[in-house]
Amino acid sequence: MPSPLSLGVLISGSGTNLQAIIDAIERDELTAALRVVISNRPDAYGLMRARHHGLPAVVIPHKDFSSRQAFEAKLIKTLHDYQVELVVLAGFMRLLSPFFIRTFPQRIVNIHPALLPAFPGIHAQRQAVERGVRIAGATVHFVDEETDHGPIIMQAAVPVYPDDTEESLGARILTQEHRIYPQAIQLFAEGRLEVRGGRVIVHNEIRSQTATLRSPESV
Ligand code: GAR
Repeated sequence: MPSPLSLGVLISGSGTNLQAIIDAIERDELTAALRVVISNRPDAYGLMRARHHGLPAVVIPHKDFSSRQAFEAKLIKTLHDYQVELVVLAGFMRLLSPFFIRTFPQRIVNIHPALLPAFPGIHAQRQAVERGVRIAGATVHFVDEETDHGPIIMQAAVPVYPDDTEESLGARILTQEHRIYPQAIQLFAEGRLEVRGGRVIVHNEIRSQTATLRSPESV
């Protein structure tokens, strides 16, 4: 049996994606060990989730540091202390500088509530509703030095309805986030991801010539 992949999860808020990762590990669907959860906000509910499962939960408030680099140096030290191999951003709402990103080359993943490259940045679900797209979704990607930009690992699509709000669409997308984030991390744990020319090759992926999502479904 290969040893489990050591994860460090960075959060800022509710931590439902963190919960999905914890649950997938506990169900043996994800061959990983969650070494540490770090929040930049002391009131993040995700910290309670971590503690409830007996996981180390560390608060590193960005406001306590005089510079971004000092904050990130503390993050890096903590991740190294817990021997983290893959850094998982799960609703972590601080931009990370090249200093941090270069410390973990192709070892940081993020989830974003949009079908990137559409709608990067904040309020992605609102942007999708306002633009009137009929298909939206979620993206797991490696983190590079641009926001919501790096090589795409996995995406899931959902329909958008004309009466959707930011909240109703966000909930539909979030359900898919919880499915694909553990699955994408599992592909990493299995060594099946290769980044080539800014794109991700998934080794031995299952293919379909017929899978489609049409929205509206019926006319
Ligand atoms: C998720 O919807 C995630 O995709 C989003 O923050 C939310 C965190 O929810 N991340 C971003 O927008 C990153 N650009 P959670 O704390 O319940 O996992």
